[in-house]
Amino acid sequence: MKKLQIIARLSILLVIFLVLNACQTASENYPIDYEQLSEDERIVIRFSHVVGEDTPKGMAARKFAELLKERSNGFIEVQVFSNGKLYKDGEEMEALQRGDVQMIAPATSKLTKLIPEIAIYDLPFAFRSYDEIHEYSKSSAGRHLVDKLEAHNLIALSIWDSGFKQLSNNVRPITHYSDLKGLQMRIMPSDILHKQFTTVGSSTKLIDFNNVFNELQKSTIDGQENTLSNFTSKSMYTLQNYLTISNHGYLGYFVLFNLEFWNSLSPDVKLLIHEVLVEVEQWEWAAAEKLNKEKLNEIEECQCIDIEYLDEGSMEEWEQAMLPVYDYYRAKYSNYYLNSLPKFEN
Ligand code: LMR
Repeated sequence: MKKLQIIARLSILLVIFLVLNACQTASENYPIDYEQLSEDERIVIRFSHVVGEDTPKGMAARKFAELLKERSNGFIEVQVFSNGKLYKDGEEMEALQRGDVQMIAPATSKLTKLIPEIAIYDLPFAFRSYDEIHEYSKSSAGRHLVDKLEAHNLIALSIWDSGFKQLSNNVRPITHYSDLKGLQMRIMPSDILHKQFTTVGSSTKLIDFNNVFNELQKSTIDGQENTLSNFTSKSMYTLQNYLTISNHGYLGYFVLFNLEFWNSLSPDVKLLIHEVLVEVEQWEWAAAEKLNKEKLNEIEECQCIDIEYLDEGSMEEWEQAMLPVYDYYRAKYSNYYLNSLPKFEN
């Protein structure tokens, strides 16, 4: 009888042990809810940008934040500040270098203040397709350019597209490049963009992205160049009479981190961010292409602006007319980046 009692007690102890053990294993596998932790215990990445939520950059920033939160179980939080709410165009670069934000994705043109050679991306008719741009950015010339950013406490980890730029103005339809003569055009800070317009007789005015609408409204400029997603998201078509689908240049972004911040991350975290960025980059490229096509359809359908289209023949004429811009780049910067463009390599 005593023996039976001992066996019964031992069995109960065994069951308790097994149950406790099972509970412990389950809690180890269960993801920790990092959202309960304070900001000091999590990794917080503040990501500032100047465009709307409904643009390729705006959408990709949100996607990046969502995926990173999901894949890290909330350990990495990306706080996205759009529309220049936190830092405006012209302020965000210094904010990143100081470490006040950890991430921005400025147009490559805006990096030419630091690395003038990056203006290779601004050359008119430099690339015929998105594939050419993406391949160039991953080529040794492309890598060499972004590596130069490290001396400025910046690291570029991806390239995102806004798209190919189109021209709008309020004075006349532009079909021939000579139609640009005498117009004042808004540009981003890049001497190659300035040269592009002055080569065909326009003058230029440097204006922050978030002020373009106001300046168009006040008629201090006649026109501007931008991608259709930016053009529509800021309702510029309501203030301009003529649009030319010229696809004459590229607007894209380097996705930048503050280098000191990046170096402070553990190898695991860096790897996760890299993986997510690779995925988001592919997603963003497809989203940008799709969105710009949709925006063209919308503008065509609204019949709210006169639209001209450059055919292949006219594009070749424009490209020839823009050759002095290439000569300027070659003389001022370098042959290396220029000769590595796909159109000169093939
Ligand atoms: C512009 O200034 O037109 C663009 O760089 C804005 C943007 O970030 O797409």
